[in-house]
Amino acid sequence: MQVHVADHPLISHKLTLLRDESTDSPTFRRLADELVTLLAYEATREVRVEAVDVKTPVAMARGVKLSDPRPLVVPILRAGLGMLEGMQRLLPTAEVGFLGMVRNEETFDPVTYAERLPDDLTGRQCYVLDPMLATGGSLAAAIHFLVKRGADHITAVTLLAAPEGVARIEAELETIGVPVTLVTAGLDEKLNELGYIVPGLGDAGDRLYGVV
Ligand code: URA
Repeated sequence: MQVHVADHPLISHKLTLLRDESTDSPTFRRLADELVTLLAYEATREVRVEAVDVKTPVAMARGVKLSDPRPLVVPILRAGLGMLEGMQRLLPTAEVGFLGMVRNEETFDPVTYAERLPDDLTGRQCYVLDPMLATGGSLAAAIHFLVKRGADHITAVTLLAAPEGVARIEAELETIGVPVTLVTAGLDEKLNELGYIVPGLGDAGDRLYGVV
């Protein structure tokens, strides 16, 4: 898997504020949104385009436009929803599908409780949004879901990733069978015994939606 840890002072600055336990929920949402827009630039580096001609006020020029079929953006509910607008800002014509997953707090296994995706994803590039790549269970399940329906190129966008989660996706690459890229603002040290990323930023969903 290609792992791209964004290396930019603005991203590091915003990530530091996001980690801060004293950052309130409205500020956390705004920072997450800004960070995703910066990550989206990197995440869409391989988005498929095709050549077109364009008439400027002066002359004809060669340009590109996004190819069909349109890319699909898939936030994993609930926390991935906090990343959707930031991604749509750069990919406004992308289609959006939803996957609702929650992890069993004892086994950390993902349970899918909602799914709203096109049946046929043949030839589609998919951008999966999940702020925290922790054990990798939800992301792996989401990727398998999309590839089973025909998606042939997956980019995961996360705010933070743990080495355990990266290793899990890497271990499943052979069964996934299509290229997977991870774009993240930070790669942290480890998971703790509760499955939280250390140092991390706590529970991203709770912080986004004001539960704490
Ligand atoms: N999910 C979160 O929201 N935070 C973590 O640290 C791990 C999983």
